[in-house]
Amino acid sequence: MEHIKNPFIYGTRVSGDAFCNREEEVEELLGDIRARQHVILFSQRRFGKTSLVWKVLEEARKEGIIPVHVDLYPISTLGEFIEEYAKAIARTLSTYEKATRLMKGLFSRLYLSKGVDPAGNPQWSVGFDRNREIETFDEAVSSVENYLKRKGKFGVVVFDEFQQITETNGEKIERRLRTAIQTHEHVCYLFVGSKKHMIHDLFSNPNRPFYRIGKIFPLGKIAAADLRGFIEKRFNEAKVDIDVNAIEVIVETTECHPFYTQYLCHVLYDIMESRHIRADDVPKAIVFLLYRESTAYMNTWDLLTNRQRQALVALSETVPGESPFRIEMLRRFNMSQPAVMIRALKSLADKDIVDKEDGRYGIIDLFFKRWIRTFISHSQPF
Ligand SMILES: Nc1ncnc2c1ncn2[C@@H]1O[C@H](COP(=O)(O)OP(=O)(O)OP(=O)(O)O)[C@@H](O)[C@H]1O
Ligand SMILES: [Mg+2]
Repeated sequence: MEHIKNPFIYGTRVSGDAFCNREEEVEELLGDIRARQHVILFSQRRFGKTSLVWKVLEEARKEGIIPVHVDLYPISTLGEFIEEYAKAIARTLSTYEKATRLMKGLFSRLYLSKGVDPAGNPQWSVGFDRNREIETFDEAVSSVENYLKRKGKFGVVVFDEFQQITETNGEKIERRLRTAIQTHEHVCYLFVGSKKHMIHDLFSNPNRPFYRIGKIFPLGKIAAADLRGFIEKRFNEAKVDIDVNAIEVIVETTECHPFYTQYLCHVLYDIMESRHIRADDVPKAIVFLLYRESTAYMNTWDLLTNRQRQALVALSETVPGESPFRIEMLRRFNMSQPAVMIRALKSLADKDIVDKEDGRYGIIDLFFKRWIRTFISHSQPF
């Protein structure tokens, strides 16, 4: 078969043709940025937050708004926060300004120098007095506002994986950041992160510094109609025909989850035997995907307690409208009362394995749920 690169991408940020729609979200966020309305954008993992935000930043840049994207994923200390933030600022602002002039005018505590990484890409390194972290933090946080004010421009700062801030110095730093942000008139802030932490730990607790700092924006899945069109187009561009009912089986299986839709289509493309995909081909791809993920799922499973496993089996066998606490489930697992199951579910929620939405518990990773049903629930004695 002619070799064409797999058109489906999963796991990293997607852009260009690999980015499906999200037009309404892009417009809404752009409107917020123009109005300098701070936003808290959150979802379950891998729903497309980072991809969406980059798309929005690209559009904002075209309007003359200066975009800074800070990835806080790797940080676990205040020093690392400062480094990542300073690097992100330098990366962005040096595209508008000669780097040396910029550094002189903006920073007195931070020393930034530009080099190249082993692959030859530009890379910034950051130095500062480690005994003066708090002052350096203040300098980094006010630098964007100062720069924009001087230039008479506006900007947007995205803190991606913002929940990592809780790893730094706890509330002291949160409070300092909030106080600074409140004085900024030229910057709009987007706080992006995972549902559980953003909501429960940072933004909806009146005792926490970030309470009510901005608009709460829960990012949903991609609309089924858009996703169907996207799947068909991507296959067609790679010279593959796909039947309408095959597409239907895909979106039903992935429940329109962006990551899993791309993942399943990627596998489907990898294992296809002809350039025409039919509905029957999808189950094969599902099984293939489950096998590919099974080491990771087994690792997760091995770390759980018996009660947690039982609760997951109960959830995996619970259809909408049913309760996981139904009497036959409790009996099956010798649970004297629902509280036993509830305790297990709560501990699974703490681990980000299950989620409670509209009062109902569910397994977050829908392929993990399928894996449990396929490989555990009917074959494994408890
Ligand atoms: N708009 C989109 N169109 C097509 N695929 C998408 C879209 N958004 C996300 N995806 C799919 O989901 C994957 C994860 O996207 P992304 O990294 O943007 O999500 P995230 O919510 O930031 O994830 P994380 O929780 O890991 O930070 C992508 O690799 C891609 O497969
Ligand atoms: Mg992300």
